[in-house]
Amino acid sequence: TSYKEPYRPQFHFSPAKNWINDPVGLLHHNGTYHLYYQYNPGGIEWGNMSWGHATSDDLTHWEEQPIALLARGFPENVTEMFFTGSAVADVNNTSGFGVDGKTPLVAVYTSSYQVTQTLPSGKEVKANQQSQSIAYSIDDGMAWTTYDEANPVIQNPPTPYQNQYENFRDPFIFWHEQTNKWILVTALSEIHKLVLWTSDNLKDWKVLSEFGPFNGVGGVWECPNLFPLDLDNDESKTKWVMIVGLNPGGPPGTVGSGTQYFIGSFDGTKFTPDDESVYPGNKTSNWMDWGPDYYATTSFNGLPSTDHTVIGWMNNWQYGTKIPAYPWHGAMTAPRHLSLKTINEKPTLIQQPNEAWKSIESQGKHSSTWKTFNQGSKDLGPVGKTLDVELEFSASDASKFGIIVQATSDWKEQTAIGYDFKGKQIFVDRTKSGDVSFDETFASVYHAPLIPNSDGTVRLRILVDWSSIEVFGGDGEATLTAQIFPSKNATFAQLFSDGGDTRNVQLGVRRVSSTWK
Ligand code: FRU
Repeated sequence: TSYKEPYRPQFHFSPAKNWINDPVGLLHHNGTYHLYYQYNPGGIEWGNMSWGHATSDDLTHWEEQPIALLARGFPENVTEMFFTGSAVADVNNTSGFGVDGKTPLVAVYTSSYQVTQTLPSGKEVKANQQSQSIAYSIDDGMAWTTYDEANPVIQNPPTPYQNQYENFRDPFIFWHEQTNKWILVTALSEIHKLVLWTSDNLKDWKVLSEFGPFNGVGGVWECPNLFPLDLDNDESKTKWVMIVGLNPGGPPGTVGSGTQYFIGSFDGTKFTPDDESVYPGNKTSNWMDWGPDYYATTSFNGLPSTDHTVIGWMNNWQYGTKIPAYPWHGAMTAPRHLSLKTINEKPTLIQQPNEAWKSIESQGKHSSTWKTFNQGSKDLGPVGKTLDVELEFSASDASKFGIIVQATSDWKEQTAIGYDFKGKQIFVDRTKSGDVSFDETFASVYHAPLIPNSDGTVRLRILVDWSSIEVFGGDGEATLTAQIFPSKNATFAQLFSDGGDTRNVQLGVRRVSSTWK
C-alpha cells in the first residue's frame, strides 16, 4: 500500500490490510518498541485471531513485521486463537527459555479454543474455553514458539469461579521489584472481577487476590492493566493504577466500548482502590477517555515508570467492522505518556501524546493571537488534514469557543471541537463529519468535563489525522478520541466564538507529515 487510501491514518498505526483490534504485548526491548496486535490474517472483519507485529525506534514510524503468532490451523481449520495478552523481557531467565545467554522474551496470551480437544500437553479443553498460555522468543521478538509442553499455564479460573471459563482472558504481566515476582492480572469478564496471580518462573502461577466489581459494570470487563506512577512527580508518593476496558458501557453519551481506571495501592498481593476512586451505589467511573473510540488500552513493559506509555485501539465494538476504511479496519491511538497529578485535591491521570513530533512536524508553526475574538467565526483556509493544533483562550461572554477542522469549502462537512463554558466541558461534534451512515449511533456529539485553570484559561491540544481526532484538554486530565470519515477535499478550518466574545485567544497550528515512506 501507499498509505494514501481514503481515511488512511497518516501518523497513527494501521495495518497495510485486514482487521486489527487490541494492541497487545507492548514491549520496549533493546531500543526497539514492539507493538503486537489482535490481527485477522484472513480478512477485514474480526476472526482467526493472531498476533500481528510492528516495530518502531521512536513510537512514531512503524514497520510491519511478519505475524508473531498465527491462529493455530489457519486457514483451513482454526482450533486455537491467540487473544489479548502482554509480553516481558525475562532478563534473569527465570523461565529457562533463554539460550546461550540470550534474554528470552515471554508473551502471555489468552488461548481461545475453538473446539473441544486434547492439547499437545495432554490437557483437555472445551470448545469456547479461554485459558492463559505462554510463548517465547529468543530472537528479540520476531519468531515466537508456543510452550506446547505445558500450555495452557493457567487453564481454569480459580475457585469458586470455574463456571466462568468462557470469559476468562487478557493477561497483563509485569515484574514486581519489591517482591521479586512476576504478577499477572486477568479478567473474569462477565462477573466484573479481576484476578491477580504470581509466579517465579512465568510457568507456574498462584492466585493472589481478586478485585471488583466496582464502578462501571454496564458490559463485560476486559483488558486489565496494573502499574505504578509517582503522584506529582514525587517518588515518595507512588500510587498504583488499574485500567479496565468495559464493553459496552462506555462514557456518558457514547455507545459501545469505554475505558475506566482506578487509583489505589498494591502491596504485592492485593490492589486496593482509594476511597475517592470508587463510587459505591452508582455507575460513575473514572473515564480514561471520554470519546467513543478509545479501547483496550495497554502499557509498554520495559520502560521506567516515569516513561509510562500506553496505546489504545482507536475504534469501538459498536461499529468497528462497519467503518468505511478499506482494505483495513482499525488503527491505534497516538502513544500516550501517563502521569499522575493532584487536581482539585484528587489524584488524576494525565495523558500527553508521545510521538517524535520534531521528525514529522517539519513545516513550522503558524501562530495567531487575538486579545478579543469577536462573536462569530474566522476562516483559517485550507490548512490540511493532518494537524497538531494548540488552542488557548479564556471566556468573556461566549457560550462556546472552538475550531472546525476537516471541513469542505462550503462547510457542509465539518468536525467541530471546542469548549462549552457553561457546561465546563470539551466537546467534539462529528454529526456532519463526512460518512456517518454506516452506524446509527455514529453521528453524535461527545463531551469531556474540564475545569479551566485558576486564571480562567482553557487549553486544548488537538491531533487531527485523516480519520481521527484526539483532544487533550488542560494538562491532559481530559481526553476525547473520536474517529471521523471526511471527504478527501475536507481540508478547511475555522475558529468560532458562539454567543459572545472570547478573550486571549492563542492558536498554534502545525502540519504533521506522513510517517509512512
Ligand atoms: C477486547 C477483546 C479482548 C479479547 C480480544 C479478542 O477488545 O474482546 O477481551 O481478548 O478482544 O480479539
